[in-house]
Amino acid sequence: MAEVVLDKIWKRFGNVVAVEDFNLTIDDEEFMVFVGPSGCGKTTTLRMIAGLEEISEGTLSIGERVVNDVPPKDRDIAMVFQNYALYPHMNVHQNMSFGLRLRKTPKPDIERRVSEAAQLLQIDHLLDRRPRELSGGQRQRVALGRAIVREPKVFLMDEPLSNLDAKLRVEMRASIKKLHLRLGVTTVYVTHDQVEAMTMGTRIVVMKDGLIQQVASPIELYDKPVNKFVGGFIGSPAMNFLVGGVQNGRLTSEQFDIKPVGELAEKIAPYNGKKVYVGMRPENLDLPGGKIPEKQNTIKATVEVVEPLGAETHILASVGGDQTLVARVDPHARVQPGDNVDLLVDLDFLHAFDLDTEANIRYT
Ligand SMILES: Nc1ncnc2c1ncn2[C@@H]1O[C@H](COP(=O)(O)OP(=O)(O)O)[C@@H](O)[C@H]1O
Ligand SMILES: [Mg+2]
Repeated sequence: MAEVVLDKIWKRFGNVVAVEDFNLTIDDEEFMVFVGPSGCGKTTTLRMIAGLEEISEGTLSIGERVVNDVPPKDRDIAMVFQNYALYPHMNVHQNMSFGLRLRKTPKPDIERRVSEAAQLLQIDHLLDRRPRELSGGQRQRVALGRAIVREPKVFLMDEPLSNLDAKLRVEMRASIKKLHLRLGVTTVYVTHDQVEAMTMGTRIVVMKDGLIQQVASPIELYDKPVNKFVGGFIGSPAMNFLVGGVQNGRLTSEQFDIKPVGELAEKIAPYNGKKVYVGMRPENLDLPGGKIPEKQNTIKATVEVVEPLGAETHILASVGGDQTLVARVDPHARVQPGDNVDLLVDLDFLHAFDLDTEANIRYT
């Protein structure tokens, strides 16, 4: 069991700054997720923790020991990759025990660990099979098993579910979470998928261009994104952004007139006369007669596409011809393309972002 501390960590590849001033304490037993678009530095950060990539600057500690110069095999970590590359000529048991045999772990100890891990992963009936005799999900379990038998202080996982189909991904997501609950091993999990991040992480690090944007629990990240990037990246369909002006405490344009309340009302006061991005999640917009009781604070929009999903319906609408938004409405709402609608805004979940810095005005 161990805490992992990244203190002012930088990674440069020649002139490219892949990771910039990364500061983070991953608590003992935490399930920490790194999420962000491709190329934002997730893998590089993970590989620095693993010892597979040299740290350009900063201090990395695992379990209160500075490990900058400790080789990977002595860091007490186990890594699971997207391309888990099982040895094709070995059976499941041999694949899982390979690392332990290399390390000359006593045989009874190997048997105990493989048997426990195999039971935990529900692959104990497959120990004699070769990888080609397994399904994708079973192979991924073997790869996890190979990491578990090491009984490491820290698990590092780099997009381990990317190669699986959607249904299996959902299943394995739950399996990995259960595994974490059972074993309580500190885990760092990398993904570009915000749904995976939200469903798995106890905390999430959102990264962009080598920089941490925000570190928070899933719900805090969703409710209180610190900037437009985080607001737009977390949540599906994504948060809507409309450009509007601040006029005497209202957010306005030709198509809308919204009067913020509470915290946001105070925070936008200094923006009087300026333009901002108004941010609203699809579920915080609705048709009249729906879940938002107000009669004011409306956006004039023209429905372009109606997407019934069964449990809910998404309305894609244009606002003033040059902007669009998505509203999540009741599946039985009567609405069709071409309709002009006055969408209501739930003020409790309204955001405004600075046009230049893109910071969330509500939380700055
Ligand atoms: N070995 C390398 N040499 C040069 N640039 C690299 C190398 N590895 C990664 N990079 C660069 O570092 C940045 C971060 O990459 P990476 O950590 O792989 O991102 P992610 O895992 O978030 O997709 C990218 O710009 C990438 O091109
Ligand atoms: Mg990567």
